[in-house]
Amino acid sequence: MGAGYTAPMQDRPTDPTLKLLLEALALAPDNAPLRMHVATAMEKAAQPRDALSHFERLLGDRALGDEAGLGAARCALSLGELDRALGFVNAVLTSVPEHAMGLLLRARVHERRNEHRDARRDYERAVQLDPELADTKLWDALLPSRVEPDGAVGKEPETGPREGVTFADVGGLDDVKERIRMRIVLPFQKPDLFAAFGKKGGGGMLFYGPPGCGKTFLARATAGECGAHFVSVGLHEVLDMWIGNSERQLHAIFEDARRRAPTVLFFDEVDALGMQRAKLVTGAMRGVITQFLAELDGFASRNEKVLVLGATNTPWDVDSAFRRPGRFSQVLFVPPPDRPGRAQILKLKLAEKPQGPMDFQRLAEMTEGWSGADLENLIDAAAESAIGKSLASGKVEPITMPMLEAARARLRPSTREWFGTIRNHVQFANESGQYDEAADYMRRHNLM
Ligand SMILES: Nc1ncnc2c1ncn2[C@@H]1O[C@H](COP(=O)(O)OP(=O)(O)OP(=O)(O)O)[C@@H](O)[C@H]1O
Ligand SMILES: [Mg+2]
Repeated sequence: MGAGYTAPMQDRPTDPTLKLLLEALALAPDNAPLRMHVATAMEKAAQPRDALSHFERLLGDRALGDEAGLGAARCALSLGELDRALGFVNAVLTSVPEHAMGLLLRARVHERRNEHRDARRDYERAVQLDPELADTKLWDALLPSRVEPDGAVGKEPETGPREGVTFADVGGLDDVKERIRMRIVLPFQKPDLFAAFGKKGGGGMLFYGPPGCGKTFLARATAGECGAHFVSVGLHEVLDMWIGNSERQLHAIFEDARRRAPTVLFFDEVDALGMQRAKLVTGAMRGVITQFLAELDGFASRNEKVLVLGATNTPWDVDSAFRRPGRFSQVLFVPPPDRPGRAQILKLKLAEKPQGPMDFQRLAEMTEGWSGADLENLIDAAAESAIGKSLASGKVEPITMPMLEAARARLRPSTREWFGTIRNHVQFANESGQYDEAADYMRRHNLM
């Protein structure tokens, strides 16, 4: 963390004590106990966002790191940032597994994430360790009768619901889905069959392509196809918050995925690691990368029921060390949807909304080069018109073709820019053929 870093301040402190503390801290920014005071005071003053930034700066502190981790987790929890909260508290529990307050806090985070079994387990352990921590309100919320109203109590392993989105929710991309099915889903479900033919499991798949075309969505749907849990990790976020603590955090993430297996562990923005490696300012970053690769290699050799997927918009920033066998050995281009794909996506996204007669063929023709996210925006814009009209007329007015056409005239697709960027890489840095799929797509669409 750079010495010049100042915590972002959303709210200027109104509390005079807090103001004094902050002035003192400005004079002695390296005074960790003082910063802890500030963070705690801010948390009490209901300024969780600011408090969180101070707690984060203390995470690497040898004496105060764990306390700061819990503070950060509490703040993230109160901000509703549940993934972050879980990350913070997991890191503390990795270093002190029997931390009673930590376990109680993690129980609260799990409760908010609707992972009631995990919450109960943590809560019970916390209270065993420290009976003073008993919290009847939390416990009531976790009673099994309230957990799975459909009577599924006991059937689900201790890890919360599996992913619900499947390939049926993904419009178009038939080739891509087929390849994922053959290369990823089936080996995951039937490892023995693949082993019999000398095909090794392990090794993840890296999705690349223009923004908004469904890389993240596909990863989620792959988890659904595998009947697995879906754990998504934004690497930029991990790296930004965890300077000095990233290794611990990464390990906690991999451990969590193991514990919840079967799991699809998805790393978004894999380029974050590659870029950092290129810059390689500090030895600390090297440690993170080494840790990450070691964790990946560990999965490949132990054949656990954890599938690792990654996604990036900038595959050229991903270090080649990540592509070795057993790591992200397979690379898959996720293109913008073709015409039938666009029609299908529009149909899927409009399905639950009031709509008039639709000509999906025509809509698909009008949206060449549009991503799935662009199509979602298009529908949102048309929905706004429909809502305006409904407010005026006092009854529900459906989304109509003219509304969509008007929105089409106002909006622009977002994938062109990306193809502009990748063009050079395809032309001049494609010796190993890693961008062949993108190159092929670009040739067919006159983008080269
Ligand atoms: N093929 C598709 N079928 C259905 N929905 C899609 C499809 N592609 C994109 N979408 C919709 O667009 C949204 C954005 O897609 P997603 O986040 O998966 O894109 P991405 O490729 O990961 O983008 P980025 O590179 O910006 O991370 C999704 O939440 C999804 O609702
Ligand atoms: Mg994404």
